[in-house]
Amino acid sequence: MPTVLILYYSRSGNTEEMAKAVEEGVKSEGVKVVRKKVTRANLKDLLKADGIILGSPNYYGTMAAEMKAFLDKSVQYHGKLEGKVGGAFSSGGGLGGGVETTVLDMLKSLLIHGMVIQGDPRGSHYGAVSIGKPNAEAKKECKKLGEKVARLVKRLGAS
Ligand SMILES: Cc1cc2nc3c(=O)[nH]c(=O)nc-3n(C[C@H](O)[C@H](O)[C@H](O)COP(=O)(O)O)c2cc1C
Repeated sequence: MPTVLILYYSRSGNTEEMAKAVEEGVKSEGVKVVRKKVTRANLKDLLKADGIILGSPNYYGTMAAEMKAFLDKSVQYHGKLEGKVGGAFSSGGGLGGGVETTVLDMLKSLLIHGMVIQGDPRGSHYGAVSIGKPNAEAKKECKKLGEKVARLVKRLGAS
């Protein structure tokens, strides 16, 4: 069965709530999910997954240092993640505060790994975003992100 890994960082719980909604979306497509806080993840988790979705709070317009440190360590598997499906989501403190740049920064790392990223012509174009505690609309976007990644994983087959 294909597997999607959801790796996230969260200090006050908002990004974690988003991660749970993303998980719901993946599961609704019948795809296995491993959801882990990035500080507890092992680099090998990346190899085992067919899809990888990253989530981070927006810290000064980019991802949390904990997520960046993990991605920097992933250079160990440079070239080995090619063809896997990726996605990202972010929680921020205010409108225009940098959630989209945070999502794009995480997606850049996945693209450099050679991964496949699907945009969204409606709703959140780059990945799911939320301001503060995710409301119903933000959770819907998170769920949709999980569904889209899971569907693409199924279409592309195991990497
Ligand atoms: C160190 C730090 C930097 C932050 N920088 C920003 C920022 O630049 N723009 C913004 O909108 N929110 C910023 N925030 C707010 C968080 O992104 C926001 O509270 C988020 O929902 C926290 O997610 P969490 O509950 O998953 O930890 C910052 C918070 C911290 C702790």
